[in-house]
Amino acid sequence: MRHFLTLKDFSKQEIIDIMCLSFSVKADFLRDRESNTKYFRNKILGMIFEKPSTRTRVSFEAGAYQLGGQAIVLMGKDTQIGRGEPIKDTARVMSGMVDMIMMRTFEQEKLEEFATYSSVPIINGLTDLYHPVQVLADLMTIIECGFYTDDFKDCALEFKDCSQKKSSPIIAYVGDGNNIVHSWLYLAALLGLEFRIACPNGYSPDEAITQTALTLAKSSHAKISLTQDPNVAVKDCNIIITDTWISMGQEDQKQQKIAIFKEYCVDQALMAKASDDAIFLHCLPAYRGYEVSEEVFEGDKSKVWQEAHNRLHIQKGIMVWLQQNQ
Ligand code: CP
Ligand code: NVA
Repeated sequence: MRHFLTLKDFSKQEIIDIMCLSFSVKADFLRDRESNTKYFRNKILGMIFEKPSTRTRVSFEAGAYQLGGQAIVLMGKDTQIGRGEPIKDTARVMSGMVDMIMMRTFEQEKLEEFATYSSVPIINGLTDLYHPVQVLADLMTIIECGFYTDDFKDCALEFKDCSQKKSSPIIAYVGDGNNIVHSWLYLAALLGLEFRIACPNGYSPDEAITQTALTLAKSSHAKISLTQDPNVAVKDCNIIITDTWISMGQEDQKQQKIAIFKEYCVDQALMAKASDDAIFLHCLPAYRGYEVSEEVFEGDKSKVWQEAHNRLHIQKGIMVWLQQNQ
């Protein structure tokens, strides 16, 4: 059975298939909201949250309903997991009652253990290490803004926004080497994209994940580079991505990280170093005045609302793909 735990488990063709399916589900939904209800009719999505969420919860719950199914949301602390029931016991009980499960938790190993004991597909809704559904929503937005390789030219044409093809994107990530960067590393490596990362000394992405991505990049011809200088990373790029400097669970590092990261704010001066048609992305929630300035966040180049709304569409595509590939 296929799960959606990390993008490393997917081939390039499978990523293209999920993206094209998501574009098609989105286009159908925008034409006729009822058309999506055939995909998950009378099915149930279970969700477990061990960290807070706004977008992930609403998009998966709304998505399950729009696909014709239902959703059950469990907050980890209110369940027996919160009182120490083994994850493998919860997995075997829940997966006998629902058709698919999304989990947001801390350790990737915990999610993987849940999947090992589950009899239904498991989706990663964010762990300390990865946020794969988010970066596919980012990619959908990038494609909609006209930046895509020929791999996506057929599915991208579902949307007229995409018909003005610009180029294969040069993507720069500025900030903390966190779960978003880790998922972007695999995505860029699988698809053969140019992906530049600028992080402060000591806050680079995980070494093992970076090495795996660099190995994958040899066969895909992806260009992956790391620097400590945001100006180098963003020079003439098409996409600038950042994220909070303080991920969930790191609240005790706040004062220390704010001091270290202050040169990594995506402001107008940094945006000006990117290409003229560059766009700005942020998975949200955003902390204005820290990782991004108010002007950039609210400015014309910012596509953060489109990106957030695409969570709904890409996750419906992922759920449908998992249904079709069990
Ligand atoms: N981007 C994202 O996953 O947002 P939430 O934490 O609100 O779900
Ligand atoms: N890196 C952030 C993403 C939030 C959606 C975190 O893990 O908190």
